[in-house]
Amino acid sequence: MNAAVEALAAGRLVILPTETVYGLAADAGDPRAVAAIYEAKGRPSFNPLIAHVADLAAAEKIARFDARARALAERFWPGPLTLVLPIADPAAVCDLARAGLDTVAVRAPGHPVAHAVLAAFGGPVAAPSANRSGRPSPTTLADAREETGEAAAAFLDGGPCAVGLESTVVALVDQPRLLRPGAVTREEIEAVIGPLAEAEADAKRSPGRLARHYSPNAPVRLNADGPGPGEAFLAFGSGAPEGPLVWNLSPAGDPAEAAANLFAFLRAADRASPAAIAVAPIPDTGLGEAINDRLRRAAGFVG
Ligand code: TXA
Ligand code: MG
Repeated sequence: MNAAVEALAAGRLVILPTETVYGLAADAGDPRAVAAIYEAKGRPSFNPLIAHVADLAAAEKIARFDARARALAERFWPGPLTLVLPIADPAAVCDLARAGLDTVAVRAPGHPVAHAVLAAFGGPVAAPSANRSGRPSPTTLADAREETGEAAAAFLDGGPCAVGLESTVVALVDQPRLLRPGAVTREEIEAVIGPLAEAEADAKRSPGRLARHYSPNAPVRLNADGPGPGEAFLAFGSGAPEGPLVWNLSPAGDPAEAAANLFAFLRAADRASPAAIAVAPIPDTGLGEAINDRLRRAAGFVG
């Protein structure tokens, strides 16, 4: 933990566990450190990063909270919700981390290791998912090291991520908008602040919503009844076929379990170099919205 905090303070990168996925972290106020994140990920520098903070008090130093933003933070933080808000302190989260926007994405993660690092470091920490750009997010330290480990000066093992999908991203800049479905569901957010508008198709407002994203090497085939010849299969629910290339996201048909397994199973299936990865249909309600968003991107369709 001390080594990680010292590395951040020295402008180095750290692999940081969160409850959603592993992040590749740097001091958000240090443009050179943030540049090293973009370089390690091969990420386009017009796609801004999330500033991670220990709590709401720390977030209010960098972003302007209105009543709706505060209500969401009080209900869901620490946890898997990111708020896009007007920037209050442009120096604390450098231009490069915000991709030059006058807004900032902030989140207080629920993982105890992430929280301890953020509390000890004090300032905001920029941390995208630790995958190389366009690849599935890592949900274990081993997967994170395989993706971007070479760029990091310190690693923290927080075990397998309990949530397994990236945080929900909600913008509160004009009308409330769902930019990325995630572990906190649309229904849960609407219960606090009322109806959410859709993300605009215009990529400038939600630069992370590129069509092909979260992709394994093998092609992905959705809504499959079972594997075709040479295919791997990600099943969902009981009564699924069995076999060496079959992974069941949740035998009990539980979307939370499926979300936690999704990226690790996509990676496991991909390692077998199958003709394709066929995936069973997942109900589109609750967490299913976020799972299906990631699956459509893995298959190369716009969400
Ligand atoms: O669960 C998560 O959110 C993980 C963990 C590590 O916290 N992080 C993560 O970061 O998924 P990343 O960089 O892979 O995704 C951040 C998303 C992107 O879609 C980005 O475009 C969007 O948030 N974003 C960041 N700042 C934004 C801003 N100012 N306006 C609109 N979208 C923004
Ligand atoms: Mg990502």
